[in-house]
Amino acid sequence: MKSCKIILICILTAWLLVSCSPSEGDAPGHEYMPDMFHSTAYEANLLDYYKFNTWGGTEDYMKYAMPRTPVKGTIPRGYAGMSMSDDPKAVAQHFVGLPMSGSVPYYYEDSDAERERAMAEIVENPYPITAAGLSSGKELYEIFCATCHGENGDGLGYLVRDDGGMYPAQPANFLLPEFVEASEGRYYHSIIYGKNVMGGYADKLSYEERWNVIHYIRGLQAKELKLAYDENENTLNSVGVPYATIAHLDQDHDHDESEAHDHDGEHHSDEEHGHDHDHGHGDAHH
Ligand code: HEC
Repeated sequence: MKSCKIILICILTAWLLVSCSPSEGDAPGHEYMPDMFHSTAYEANLLDYYKFNTWGGTEDYMKYAMPRTPVKGTIPRGYAGMSMSDDPKAVAQHFVGLPMSGSVPYYYEDSDAERERAMAEIVENPYPITAAGLSSGKELYEIFCATCHGENGDGLGYLVRDDGGMYPAQPANFLLPEFVEASEGRYYHSIIYGKNVMGGYADKLSYEERWNVIHYIRGLQAKELKLAYDENENTLNSVGVPYATIAHLDQDHDHDESEAHDHDGEHHSDEEHGHDHDHGHGDAHH
């Protein structure tokens, strides 16, 4: 009888130990009061259906968990709205000082017809030409484009060099009149989708970066034609708006580093404002 008891105690102890074992491997472990661990409320972007959710089946839950399109007429955080003005200066003004690294919807498909439409409709660079934008554009161009299109845009990059270049197709020569005259949409569409053997760069370059690369390519074209395309002057086309030529509504605010503090004569001193002027660039909006 005594040994019976001991065996029973042993079994009970073993059972207790095992039942308290933590979850590992495929064993989820035990949950007491699972509804305290797992909210049965709506949880966004959670794909695993949970059996204690009693208000719908696996499919409902999947549907609710999927990202949804924004409410009509709203712009999600991190997205930039497009200015609809026909006046390039007004458009550039709209974008001054807005820190926009977020994505912006692109309403053109990857097809020839849509490419033509983009070329006809996208005629403005939403960002003014700034020194910071050009230098960021240069850096990005040299990383992502110059291997094929050449450091100076002539289409003679490293991959297509005469001695050992193996690239199967001729990259566009941006210095040709055809490309100097081409609208901004031709560049933007190519960056989004690529063209033939050229792949797209939509996932590599943010909205602002794409436009800075385009500014930089315009700068290369201007250099070739001995014209100006910079933050002070643009004699290449009527599209790019030099930063120095637009009214600076944002003077009293702290603003985005890329747009400010690199323009001669633009520095505003603390004394001038008579208040504690915060130079932290992290928080661009007050
Ligand atoms: C791996 C090589 C390669 C890289 C890198 C590359 N391209 Fe291209 N690109 C090409 C080739 C090849 C073509 C010609 C495609 C055709 O017309 O068949 C081309 C064409 C273009 C065109 C002209 C499209 C048209 O409408 O005719 C533009 C604009 C362009 N590239 C921009 C860029 C930009 C901007 C970058 C960098 C973000 C870039 N490319 C990076 C190979 C490249």
